[in-house]
Amino acid sequence: MHFTVEAQSIAKRYLAAGAIAIDATTGNGFDTLFLAEQVGDSGFVYGVDIQTHAIEAVRHKLQHAGTFHRCRLTACSHAQLKTIVEESHQGAISVAMFNLGYLPFGDKTIVTQPESTILALDQVAGLIRPGGLITILAYLGHSGGKTEALHVGQWVETKKDEFDVERHQDAGNENSPILWALSKRFKT
Ligand SMILES: C[S@@+](CC[C@H](N)C(=O)[O-])C[C@H]1O[C@@H](n2cnc3c(N)ncnc32)[C@H](O)[C@@H]1O
Repeated sequence: MHFTVEAQSIAKRYLAAGAIAIDATTGNGFDTLFLAEQVGDSGFVYGVDIQTHAIEAVRHKLQHAGTFHRCRLTACSHAQLKTIVEESHQGAISVAMFNLGYLPFGDKTIVTQPESTILALDQVAGLIRPGGLITILAYLGHSGGKTEALHVGQWVETKKDEFDVERHQDAGNENSPILWALSKRFKT
C-alpha cells in the first residue's frame, strides 16, 4: 500500500493546474481520481484499462467526484496509448502512472503482461514532456510478476541516458514491490 502512496507523492511534485496526465492502468481509479484532482479544470487526464467494467466503475467514481469532464477513459490496452493521446498532447504529458499486476478484488487472471507493458512504456517515454515523470509500480508476488519486473528493470536501464531514475524497494524483502520513478531530462 505504501508504494501507491509513495508513487502519488512523487507524482504530486510534477503536477500543477493545467497539466496533462495518463493513468496507464486505471483499475479501481484511485490514481485516475488523484490525477484528475491535481490537474484541475484546465488540465486533462487519460485513463486506460483492458477491463470495460473497471472503466465503467471509474467513470462513475469520477462523475461522483465532479472531475469526469476533464478525463477521457478508454477500455483498451495501454499498448494503444499513442493512438488515444491527442496529437497536441503528445510530448506534453507531465505524469504517466503505471500500477502493474491485477485488479485488487477483481479477476486475478487478468494481469499486465511484459510485452504490452514494454510497448506502452516505449510510447509513454515519447509522450512525456521534458521535466515530466513516469512512475511504474511492479508487484512480484503473483505468477509472472517477477518476470514482468525483470523486463521493466531492463527497459529502465535502457532509458538512463534520457531519464533520471529512482528505484524504491523495501530493504531485506526480496518480494517487496518495486517502484521506479523516471524523470525526463531537459535536452542540453
Ligand atoms: C494493480 S491494477 C491498477 C490499480 C489502479 N491504479 C487503481 O488505482 O486502482 C492493474 C490494472 O491493470 C489492468 N491491465 C492489465 N493489462 C492491461 C493492459 N494491457 N492495458 C491496460 N490495463 C491493463 C488490469 O485490468 C488492472 O485493472
